[in-house]
Amino acid sequence: MFVTSLRPNTLIPNDLFAAIEDLKQELNAVILAHYYQEPDIQDIADYIGDSLGLSQQAAATDAEVIVFAGVHFMAETAKILNPHKLVLLPDLDAGCSLADSCPPQEFAAFKAAHPDHLVVSYINCSAAIKAMSDIICTSSNSVKIVQQIPPDQPIIFAPDKNLGRYVMEQTGRNLVLWEGACIVHEIFSEKKIVQLKIEHPEAEIIAHPECEQAVLRHADYIGSTTGLLKYCQATAAEQFIVATEPGIIHQMQKDAPHKQFIPAPAMNNCACNECPHMRLNTLEKLYLAMKHRTPEITLPEDIRVAALKPIQRMLAMS
Ligand code: 13P
Ligand code: SF4
Repeated sequence: MFVTSLRPNTLIPNDLFAAIEDLKQELNAVILAHYYQEPDIQDIADYIGDSLGLSQQAAATDAEVIVFAGVHFMAETAKILNPHKLVLLPDLDAGCSLADSCPPQEFAAFKAAHPDHLVVSYINCSAAIKAMSDIICTSSNSVKIVQQIPPDQPIIFAPDKNLGRYVMEQTGRNLVLWEGACIVHEIFSEKKIVQLKIEHPEAEIIAHPECEQAVLRHADYIGSTTGLLKYCQATAAEQFIVATEPGIIHQMQKDAPHKQFIPAPAMNNCACNECPHMRLNTLEKLYLAMKHRTPEITLPEDIRVAALKPIQRMLAMS
């Protein structure tokens, strides 16, 4: 059985799960998904992870095609690591507000103004920014990576000022911060989180380090998406107020069905704690991308080669 699709002249099978499994065999493809993807995509993925785990999987895979269910900078990282593989992103418009907050030309001027500084960039940036960086980091290894840099070496940290400030607190290092931020993690309301905590006094507050300090100071645990998931499984607490994109709750609930996960509320009553970029990918678009082998990630070879070095440094230091 088929129904009509978003793409003219393409019929969509009723059983998308089975059709995607068939295409996976046909293409020798691997599906890598981030925890912020819709539940159906998480359920069909071969691997679900945080940014570090996803880049490690991309570096290690022997599949011929990588279907990246995440945002553009993640798929781009997979392409940087695998220039000869086909890397598909279900929706090419799935960008990232944080990556967009660091335009390459302005960052080049910022870097030139700090000539003796080493550049440590959060993986949530474009390939052009990676190409200007010395080491890449993710939210799960940023502290560990900065700790490995000699104490007298000045450092620029880009593009996330919230993660940068968190790394400064954890390492005692003074970092020169680029003033970028993620629209999703800046939307949480401290006031509403505190109110929720009063209503649920047993609940632990868990937060991603991309959140503002006003939210992080209430957190019982701060970590990357994988860190948050592991913490929820390991701790005895049964209730959590989750200050990160709520897509991750699907996996949290699967891992600990008896526990309760409450999404941290946004400042107004919108659903703006959902990442509008991550949510552009759908199961139907994933199927269409595999069927038509497009949209494909491409990038200039000189940028790719320059961006590869700091990613490889990160993988070696993790
Ligand atoms: P991690 O999954 O690495 O914690 O990153 C969160 C995020 O915002 C990805 O865009
Ligand atoms: Fe970018 Fe924030 Fe969305 Fe992550 S959650 S992809 S940092 S906009």
